[in-house]
Amino acid sequence: MGSFTYIAPDGTVRRLEVPDGTSAMQAAIANGVAGIVAECGGSQMCATCHVYVADEWLNKLAPMQATEDAMLDTAASERKPNSRLSCQIVMSPELDGLVVHVPERQV
Ligand code: FES
Repeated sequence: MGSFTYIAPDGTVRRLEVPDGTSAMQAAIANGVAGIVAECGGSQMCATCHVYVADEWLNKLAPMQATEDAMLDTAASERKPNSRLSCQIVMSPELDGLVVHVPERQV
């Protein structure tokens, strides 16, 4: 178990406790976190699960693969250096407490 925290554009904070192996996208969808759409269900084919990872967590994430990199270029909100697809962020002991910011738009 570990927690993911989602910060909405208006500053609303949601903190979810999730089992290891759960993606930040899956947890958001299962718990109705606003602003995570996830049209493709986690296949790296939509970029509607785009999030901005809090800077202090960036170096704890698995390296970005080429598919994720390409999809982030299609994101509806501005791509930033800390942009990631939340379907590719999977809870593990190292990521307990991870904080992400939800973009203004996903579509
Ligand atoms: Fe579609 Fe993450 S859910 S790319």
